[in-house]
Amino acid sequence: MSDDVIKYEPFEYIKENGAKMDEKEFKSHFPLFQPGAGPALSKKFGKNNDLTKNSAAEGEEAQGQRILVKGTVYDENHNPVPNAFIEIWQANAAGRYVHKLDSWDAPLDPNFVGSGWTYTDENGNYEFTTIKPGNYCWKPDENYWRPAHIHYSVMGPSVNDRLVTQLYFEGDPLLEYDDEIFLQLEEHEKKKLIATFNHELTEPDWALAYQFDMVLSGPDSQPSMPNRHQLTDHDIAYIKKAKTRKQGGEA
Ligand SMILES: [Fe+2]
Repeated sequence: MSDDVIKYEPFEYIKENGAKMDEKEFKSHFPLFQPGAGPALSKKFGKNNDLTKNSAAEGEEAQGQRILVKGTVYDENHNPVPNAFIEIWQANAAGRYVHKLDSWDAPLDPNFVGSGWTYTDENGNYEFTTIKPGNYCWKPDENYWRPAHIHYSVMGPSVNDRLVTQLYFEGDPLLEYDDEIFLQLEEHEKKKLIATFNHELTEPDWALAYQFDMVLSGPDSQPSMPNRHQLTDHDIAYIKKAKTRKQGGEA
């Protein structure tokens, strides 16, 4: 993998696209890939679980359909895990990530960075407020639309119990076309990654709601779904070629 792949300096990038926060605030959105015990992390970072507001300018909010995502984290014996540290990251409503190498042709939202974190309460429950992520095409494949999804990292009670996985949405027709990722899973694993719509959990006249419970380890745990947003050399070459073609006005 080349240096280009892991280089990640998106602040200037989103600033050019109208971000309304300062650099310090922006960097506070990416503190979480450090080693350390889960509960210690939760004490350090606290909750930042409203993605509609946590990177928005005063009085504004992210664009998109508001959703609540609620659930319970269990250990392998199905006991609730209190104080588990949960981080999520996702695309905006147009399917675009705040990432310099994201090649999807859709606008950034100046009021949405797409990261948040929280920890479970004494009963293992957690909650996020966010927007439904949009779909995007996975390159270099042709017309490969990824189903809407939210990336999850859960740690607790220690980093040894870290689970990195993804949430998908019940009823998304694109799940049947996700050949390289979702369809690679066994049937029983697929079910564990699908958040279910729950009308009772909705915030009346304000937000839809989905339920997504997780099992941290053992045979019932969610499958590990690594973050695949780091592009390979092949992907980068493809994107550069496509951009050159576009600038040159070729087909
Ligand atoms: Fe993704």
